[in-house]
Amino acid sequence: MRLTYPVSDATLGALTEQLRPLLVQAEKILANPRHGDFAKWKAALDNLPATARVTRLNQATVTLGEVLADQQALKQQLMGLHPWRKGPLNLGGVAIDCEWRSDWKWQRLQDHISDLTGQRVLDIGCGNGYFGWQMLGAGAELVVGIDPSLLFVMQYFACQHFAGTKPTNLVLPLGIEDLPKSLTGFDSVFSMGVLYHRRSPIEHLQQLHRLIRPGGQVILETLVIAGNEQQALVPKDRYARMRNVWFIPSSKALVNWMQRLGFVDIRCVDECPTSLDEQRSTEWMRFESLRESLDSSDPNLTIEGYPAPRRVIVIAHKENKS
Ligand SMILES: C[S@@+](CC[C@H](N)C(=O)[O-])C[C@H]1O[C@@H](n2cnc3c(N)ncnc32)[C@H](O)[C@@H]1O
Repeated sequence: MRLTYPVSDATLGALTEQLRPLLVQAEKILANPRHGDFAKWKAALDNLPATARVTRLNQATVTLGEVLADQQALKQQLMGLHPWRKGPLNLGGVAIDCEWRSDWKWQRLQDHISDLTGQRVLDIGCGNGYFGWQMLGAGAELVVGIDPSLLFVMQYFACQHFAGTKPTNLVLPLGIEDLPKSLTGFDSVFSMGVLYHRRSPIEHLQQLHRLIRPGGQVILETLVIAGNEQQALVPKDRYARMRNVWFIPSSKALVNWMQRLGFVDIRCVDECPTSLDEQRSTEWMRFESLRESLDSSDPNLTIEGYPAPRRVIVIAHKENKS
C-alpha cells in the first residue's frame, strides 16, 4: 500500500498553498519512519485484500468497504494494528470494538456545532481519524487530522483502504508543533483530548484561535475538575496512570481563559464523568483501561487520589470583524 495523500488542489481549496507542504512533510515521515513496529504494521496493511471502496457515514459505527468473504483472515490482519482505541469501526465486515465509544462523544457534540457543510476542518490529535469520518458525514468537504502516533496513522490507512475517495478525510503523522505559525483559515478546528497534554494550555488555546478564520468555530474537549473560575489541577506526577498530564482546569476557569484570549460566543455544551462503559478494555484493546486507573474502593477517585475523569465540551468562535 502506498502511504501517500493524493489530494487535489480543488479539495484543498483556499488552503492549498498552506497545506501542500504539510502533505509533503507527512509523506516524508512515512517514507522514513522511526518506529520499531512500523514494518510489522506495514505488512498488515500490505496484506489487506482488494475490495470495493465504500463509505457509509451518519451512523455510530463508521462502516467502510463491502463485506469480504474471508472474515477470519481480515480480522487477523486488522489485529496486527492492535490496540484500536477510537471507534466503533467496521472494516470490510469486521466489527472493531475499540477501547472508546467515541460515538458517544460525537453524539454529545453534534447537535451543538455549527453546520459543517462544505467546510475545511482541522482535527488536532485525531487518533485514527474516527471523528473525521463523522465530520464528513456531517457535510465537511475536507478534514485534515494530525496525530504524531504512527500506529494511529497506520490504522487510518487501513480505514482508507476500504473507504470511498470523496469527500476527504486525512490523518497526517504530525504534531501541533509541526504546524507553521502562519497556518490559518480553517472553518472549524477540533481539539479533543489534547489540552491537558500541553505544558502551556494558554499557548494551545492561542494556537487554536490563530488556526480558524474569522467567524469560525473551535470545538474543545478536555478533562476538567469541579471548581470555580480560579481553579485548575496540576497533578504531581501521573493522572489516572497517564504521563504527560499538565493542566486540568474547572470548566469555569477554561471559559475564563478563552474569554481572555479573545474567543467569543463561548458555550459549555456538555460536562460529564467518563463511564466505565465509554472507555474500557475490549478484544481490540487488550491492555488495561479506565477501570484499572480508578481507586478500586472509590471509583470517584483515580488511583493517585485525584478526582476521577470528567470531561467538558466547549464551543467558541473567533470574532468576525467584517
Ligand atoms: C486522548 S487522545 C484523543 C483522541 C481524540 N481526539 C478523541 O477525542 O478521542 C489524544 C491524542 O492526541 C495525540 N497527540 C499527542 N501529542 C500530540 C501533539 N503534540 N499534537 C497533536 N496530537 C497529539 C495522541 O497521539 C492521541 O491520539
